[in-house]
Amino acid sequence: MLTLTGRTLTKTVEIEPGLTLLEHAMKAGVDWNFNCSKGTCARCRCSVAAGAGLLDEPTDAEWDRLGPDELDGGFRLGCQAKVLKQGELKAVNRTYF
Ligand code: FES
Repeated sequence: MLTLTGRTLTKTVEIEPGLTLLEHAMKAGVDWNFNCSKGTCARCRCSVAAGAGLLDEPTDAEWDRLGPDELDGGFRLGCQAKVLKQGELKAVNRTYF
């Protein structure tokens, strides 16, 4: 299961492998910040509190926008981070603004 916390809503949904965190949030109606969906604005930035190993490797856009410190700190971009497999995963939208 995937627990997503947006600006005001938290929902727990079934994982659909291959979808990004942002795509899961949009399908579930969670009010997750986003703008570009291309890995540049970072409004979709989130902290992965559990299950980071269920996600694919950071994309080039995430390396450019977040860098190693934030990636090491458990941050990902929701529009880039794809869920690869089933398990317990928790992500909290933490935009900069
Ligand atoms: S929506 Fe812009 S970086 Fe994800």
